[in-house]
Amino acid sequence: MNLTDEMKATIEQLTAAGRGILAADESHPTIKKRLEAFGIESTEENRRAYRSLLVTTPGIGDYVSGIIFFEETLGQKTDSGQGIPEACAAAGIVPGIKVDKGLTELPDTGGEKVTQGLDGLGERLDGYKAQGARFTKWRSVFNIEAHKPGELAIAANAEVLARYAAIVQSRGMVPIVEPEVLMDGDHDIQRCAEVTEAVQTAVFTALRRHGVALEGMVLKPNMVVPGKSLPRPEPAVVADHTLRVLRRTVPAAVPSINFLSGGQTPQEATANLDAINRAAGPKPWVLSFSYSRALQEPVQQAWLGRAENVEAAQKAFLARARLNAAARDGRYEP
Ligand code: 13P
Repeated sequence: MNLTDEMKATIEQLTAAGRGILAADESHPTIKKRLEAFGIESTEENRRAYRSLLVTTPGIGDYVSGIIFFEETLGQKTDSGQGIPEACAAAGIVPGIKVDKGLTELPDTGGEKVTQGLDGLGERLDGYKAQGARFTKWRSVFNIEAHKPGELAIAANAEVLARYAAIVQSRGMVPIVEPEVLMDGDHDIQRCAEVTEAVQTAVFTALRRHGVALEGMVLKPNMVVPGKSLPRPEPAVVADHTLRVLRRTVPAAVPSINFLSGGQTPQEATANLDAINRAAGPKPWVLSFSYSRALQEPVQQAWLGRAENVEAAQKAFLARARLNAAARDGRYEP
């Protein structure tokens, strides 16, 4: 695949200095869970009002270069009646779209999953592009257990991630490739490193097989961290393991690595990103964020679904985005 001028322009905007990506692309069941945690009902109007609040936060374009949306949001309007993709563009933010259709079980693997959504993807992309989307996201997940993920789950997910990325680039859009090794469990950081290395190796082998232009994609990986039930390590330890794995597996041709937060607290996700950027040694890529929970939890907590709290929620969003933008340059002061 050739890197087109269109893809190049999108990459340049997404990787602009001092900024990162907001993932606001929660599917209906996920956003329901997130909003209900703060007593907010997940109605279509509440989802619209919430995502309008995010996009219209004054000054947010200084720290956020792109926002990933769920299909529904691309067709919605802000409180003042502007289309959400247009409001993004006006704020200097590139609108993107999550295009996978979630997980399905791989038979006979004891519950391992593969991500679906390739059928008809090219046609769907044409529609999203007409609505203003310039980049896309596809997420694969890998659960760590004693003998998991197995070779089949890794190979199957790597293959569909690569097919997805090739189809997206064929439409002149930029794919975010997201292979997420989950934090659930009691495994140590070394085990997360081994699994992440195996997954990234398979993903880049598949991307090559499908001729994906590495210069025209963004990688969205997990940081290398121990399982959730273990004590949290110092950020420098996370940085050390994460960079070792990425240096072994991610070609320098990839312009940007934008981490997911994966259930880390907002503070933890920021401190770890900061440590990754402060660490010594070669770092040939932009190392930034593409957080959902770590950017949005404080916003939802401040908003509580009430119009009178919009300003406070926007302040919380701007504050968290500013801290992560600092961490993206290794100059975060907790
Ligand atoms: P978290 O930052 O909450 O892990 O979400 C990132 C994401 O987009 C998952 O697909």
